[in-house]
Amino acid sequence: MAQPLIDRALGIIQKNDKGAYTVPTHGLYPFQWNWDSALTALGIAHHDEKRAWTELETLMAHQWEDGMVPHIVFHQEDDGYFPGPDVWRTGRPVPTSGITQPPVCGFAARRLYDRAEDKILASERIRSLLPKIDAWHDWFYRCRDPRQTGLVALIHPWESGRDNSVDWDLAFERVPTDGVEPFERRDLQHADASHRPTQAQYERYIYLVQLFRSLGWDNTKLHDASPFQVVDPGFNAILIRSCSDLSDLAELLGEHEVAARNRAFAEKGIAAMETLWSEPNSQYLCLDRKRGKQVENASVAGLISVFAPIPHKRAEQIAGRIMDIGRRTRFLVPSQPTDSPFFDGERYWRGPAWLIVNYMIADGMEAAGQHEVVARIVKDSLQLIEQSGFAEYYHPNTGEACGGKTFTWTAAMVIEFLSRSREMA
Ligand code: DGY
Repeated sequence: MAQPLIDRALGIIQKNDKGAYTVPTHGLYPFQWNWDSALTALGIAHHDEKRAWTELETLMAHQWEDGMVPHIVFHQEDDGYFPGPDVWRTGRPVPTSGITQPPVCGFAARRLYDRAEDKILASERIRSLLPKIDAWHDWFYRCRDPRQTGLVALIHPWESGRDNSVDWDLAFERVPTDGVEPFERRDLQHADASHRPTQAQYERYIYLVQLFRSLGWDNTKLHDASPFQVVDPGFNAILIRSCSDLSDLAELLGEHEVAARNRAFAEKGIAAMETLWSEPNSQYLCLDRKRGKQVENASVAGLISVFAPIPHKRAEQIAGRIMDIGRRTRFLVPSQPTDSPFFDGERYWRGPAWLIVNYMIADGMEAAGQHEVVARIVKDSLQLIEQSGFAEYYHPNTGEACGGKTFTWTAAMVIEFLSRSREMA
């Protein structure tokens, strides 16, 4: 049963392939998205290693001089998406957005390298990617952790990738909407409104874009100027994992300075993650940096944290928490617990299950030796695909396909899950 599904997944990736990058899906997301691309490279690599490296290289080619890697690269014009380059106005030669996204590139590069059949090609490609990924990690700790706590803050919900999570609700109350220029959303032309963020959230997203634009996209100013500063344990875990993976790669290539810098980032980050731990919830929580308080919402962010090499005891506690959620939920892992009063099973990051999240959690759980959780997550993920196809996300109880359809990174994750099952068989 694996090969026909793998073939269907490859067909979707090929359909969304623009030559040197992939779009997440036609219509809803017609450009290159940062973490979509890096995770998609993993799926592509099973079929074409060279093309997988190109996916990462195209993304990193649009890095800013200060080290930031933008969350969208607008390779070509398409007025089916809002907000486009005319709203961001970042002044880049190829237009880009002005904020970033979860830095999975270091992790993806390591995984591509480890699995590469062509190690000579892999070493060459890594050698040129290494300084760029290193500069991005350095940018994070300089610009998004100016008080050197060891943890970076997001200054816009879009940076998290979890755009409308319940985690942002309180902090979003501080974001005004006065002065927001009139706009017309385009996402609702491609997806059901009940699956997407609300109009009130969009107004705040755009307020923040306008604020940062008025500051000339100067990253030495944006963190402190933003009324939205949230430390997300999932995002930090991804960054820590990428630092740790990049450090190993750098060591292999004899780049000791890069290796030491990234190792230090990862170690400091893991120690600082303890400040986000919540014993009553048995998981990590977000921190509202502006208020100096934990966000009392036990979302999937605190479960993604296992993607980083966190202490074994923490991984075990999180495994228990996931199995507990699994007793009340048909398909793991919901982005918001299904018994939460804020749960909304169709609305983007307020309940639905996402395959990329399942992949990262399963990967971390595997490393922590939590095989029962891994087996359940992989089984649920593949059943979702069989029942509802390669959607952007899924209702965690009914399995209904939500958001965009024929989704690139979902296809890539299916290839990953199935190839892993084959390796273990
Ligand atoms: C969107 O447009 O929905 C994206 O998630 C922002 O990157």
